[in-house]
Amino acid sequence: MTETELVPIESITPNPRNPRTHSDAQIAKIAASLSEFDWINPILVDENGTIIAGRGRYLADIAGCHGCHGTGLSGGPVAGPPGLPPASNLTTAGIGDWTEADFVRAMRNGRRPDGSSLDPFMPWEVFGKMTDDELHALWLYLRSVPARAFGNKD
Ligand code: HEC
Repeated sequence: MTETELVPIESITPNPRNPRTHSDAQIAKIAASLSEFDWINPILVDENGTIIAGRGRYLADIAGCHGCHGTGLSGGPVAGPPGLPPASNLTTAGIGDWTEADFVRAMRNGRRPDGSSLDPFMPWEVFGKMTDDELHALWLYLRSVPARAFGNKD
């Protein structure tokens, strides 16, 4: 499980052997992007718009996960007929103890690790048709999202 902690910037040091260091100009661009958009797991594309990194987030966008579970996947009330369950918290604060196999089973068979079924409003029957590769990318994306308390849909 990933834990997030806020620490003073002076308490961490760059790894001198890190091959992927950034120039001051790149750092200025990253800082400008963070202050404009906040931290949102960006999708990196090449000049043709082909994804270099962020496929899981892309899939989550086009499959509508963010629409029901919220931009930050914390879950919360969904729009629809009364009586629908709220969308679950998909951050590690919600399904942190799930394995990838648990996730794949939920997406393919609509069952949680404890055996309970997911309401069909969660379109698992459709998502179950995703390839192993797509579900793997989605899983990695879910694990990259910071833990958030349930229900704010942020
Ligand atoms: C139309 C709304 C909707 C969309 C779109 C949607 N979900 Fe859900 N999801 C729900 C609801 C509602 C629940 C809660 C179901 C329940 O409690 O029975 C849920 C539950 C889940 C669960 C089970 C977690 C748990 O323990 O309750 C997982 C995993 C999940 N969704 C993943 C996803 C992923 C990944 C996507 C995008 C590929 C997605 N969902 C898109 C509405 C949605």
